[in-house]
Amino acid sequence: MKKPVIAIDGYSSTGKSSISKVIAEKLGLIHLDTGALYRGVTLFALQNCTNEDGTLDFEKLFSSFGDIQLEFKNDHGELVLYLNDTDISKQIRSNKVSDNVSLVAKQKEVRDFLLQAQRSLAEKGGIMMDGRDIGTVVLPNADFKFFLTASIDERTKRRYAELLSLGIDADEQQVKQNLIIRDKIDSEREIAPLKQAEDAIVIDNTTLNKKETIELILSYLKNI
Ligand code: DC
Repeated sequence: MKKPVIAIDGYSSTGKSSISKVIAEKLGLIHLDTGALYRGVTLFALQNCTNEDGTLDFEKLFSSFGDIQLEFKNDHGELVLYLNDTDISKQIRSNKVSDNVSLVAKQKEVRDFLLQAQRSLAEKGGIMMDGRDIGTVVLPNADFKFFLTASIDERTKRRYAELLSLGIDADEQQVKQNLIIRDKIDSEREIAPLKQAEDAIVIDNTTLNKKETIELILSYLKNI
């Protein structure tokens, strides 16, 4: 029997990726954090495609897609993202990348570049993909769709703690502003905006911890 395809979308810092990772492991599925791919393209753009004033040169980025190879490699059981053979898993969480990623992700060319790669990874089934447009655009025929949300204050707390745990300097108010701005750009963009699929199960985990959220999602996946 073909293994299921599961889509998890939702707001920043609702725990989508860390929750998906645990669930995928439990169910023997591959986990793909699509946000990391957008962050990887953003890092490449910041390193190679900027104007003199430091803003991003999108035309240069669009003509450089052939030079971007993003690959997840298994490093002692951890999936680590490589950009052209460099481990970028920590760099993609930096404030600089977080501040620019929504601008990069709203470009049609960038979304087209990443769309096919995401779809082909799901062709064989057995995958849990998290992002913003997985249930609506990337995998509209997914077997299960979840949409995660939580209050802005709770999400700020989580993101702030995550940054500190990664050893990245952070200011809580700035973290909150970044989340608000990102949510706004992600939800209002023309192409593939952050939106709940009509057939998604909505989970507000403001008052649920990670373990409780995982248990709730697993309760919907009992019979697979
Ligand atoms: O999940 P994350 O915070 O790492 O995602 C980073 C950014 O990438 C987010 O602000 C929006 C964008 N993104 C997207 O547009 N579509 C996806 N499927 C995943 C992420």
